[in-house]
Amino acid sequence: MLDVLSILSGSDLFSGLSARSLERIANHLKPVRFDQDVVICREGDIGRTMYIIVSGSVSVSSDMGWGQRELDRKGPGSVFGEMALISNDVRSATVRTLEPTECLQLDNESFDALLDKDLDLAQRIAKIMTRRFSTLVHKTSSELLGAYRALTFALANITESRDPETGAHLERTRNYCVLLAEALYREERYKGLITPQFIDGLYQAAPLHDVGKVAIPDAILFKPEGLGPEEFEKMKIHTLIGASMMEKVIRQSGADLFKMAYRICLYHHEWWNGTGYPHGLAGENIPLEARIMALADVYDALLSRRVYKPAMAMREAADKIQHGAGVQFDPNMTLVMIANISRFEDVYLKYQDE
Ligand SMILES: [Fe+2]
Ligand SMILES: [Fe+2]
Repeated sequence: MLDVLSILSGSDLFSGLSARSLERIANHLKPVRFDQDVVICREGDIGRTMYIIVSGSVSVSSDMGWGQRELDRKGPGSVFGEMALISNDVRSATVRTLEPTECLQLDNESFDALLDKDLDLAQRIAKIMTRRFSTLVHKTSSELLGAYRALTFALANITESRDPETGAHLERTRNYCVLLAEALYREERYKGLITPQFIDGLYQAAPLHDVGKVAIPDAILFKPEGLGPEEFEKMKIHTLIGASMMEKVIRQSGADLFKMAYRICLYHHEWWNGTGYPHGLAGENIPLEARIMALADVYDALLSRRVYKPAMAMREAADKIQHGAGVQFDPNMTLVMIANISRFEDVYLKYQDE
């Protein structure tokens, strides 16, 4: 004879309920037996029953698009099928027995009747479901975000292997961008334009600024002396290539991060006075994020030693940036950057090539 009450009180869904509630539930349960390798719930089917495992074990799996993948295994005391039952939705996973398995089954009519009669049970289920859903949403979104960020940086690093600009350059420029954007955020004129989300997006998108260089021939990319006019024309195309790469990503994901990366790739070589490339945009027609990136990128290039030039002293680099105000760079942004220059110097010193 099954001790249903102790099974229920030991189950992950019903533990902690009063003896009265447990008894009520027990009255609605039906014992069922399944042989080995039987599908009890199938993903996509409407869920009308939930199960508590008494003995045996099951495998919970889901169709990931590229194949079936096991998500979990459950044994005695575990509950399954309750999500679809409670939310009146389709099964989110397939459950298959790994061995002959005994369960207690509760159908949705009984479940609804129980919830109607038992306030304790209803409150408990509401709490559990809220907790489960918020953990799930949090876990899924933070996992996705982590993966997304790692991929973005990996993509940016592809250029590293083909570019004299290094990984440390990517790390420094994204940090200069954040420093500058944070300083601008405190200014009235950028209210509503620069937000914490904008700054976070900028941090993620900035390393992609030169991703288009993957398509520039080595002979141009690694040329030790200055580029000839024809070679320079070819080099300029990295902006258009980067933008078209981002356009393809946007078609797949539509994420704001890549829209920002698109604007950075395309416009980071535009000049405030309209003499930059590829489109010769001027002034505030150049997107905000690209104007910030231009300052960060040039400042770091000045401080870095390249095959064709030695590194510049910090003071000299700051002077050079200041001279570019209103010519190459947004004059107000330049002012803000110069006012905070020691913080930029700290970033430069913090992220050095190994
Ligand atoms: Fe560039
Ligand atoms: Fe760069």
